[in-house]
Amino acid sequence: MSKVTFRYRDGTAHDLDVEDGNTLMNAAFFEGLPGIEGICGGVAACGTCHVLVDEAWRTACGTPDRAEEARLAQIAVRQPASRLACQITVSPQLDGLVVTVVADG
Ligand code: FES
Repeated sequence: MSKVTFRYRDGTAHDLDVEDGNTLMNAAFFEGLPGIEGICGGVAACGTCHVLVDEAWRTACGTPDRAEEARLAQIAVRQPASRLACQITVSPQLDGLVVTVVADG
């Protein structure tokens, strides 16, 4: 179990305890967090799970694979910190991870 903080642009935040092996998208979706729609079910095809990974956590989160990179390339508001939450699998190394939800939710 790892703690992940989902921040929002309005200054609010939600802390979730996420099972290791679960994705950020699944955890946020099933908790009903706003701004993570997960329309494609987690296959890097919709972009509705767009998050920004805090600088300190970018290396630990790894780099996007080809499918994620292709989808991110289509996001107009993409930033260097952009990731798809469905492509980040929680592990003990990500305990304390902080991401910002891009959608207003
Ligand atoms: S849920 Fe569709 S891209 Fe992540």
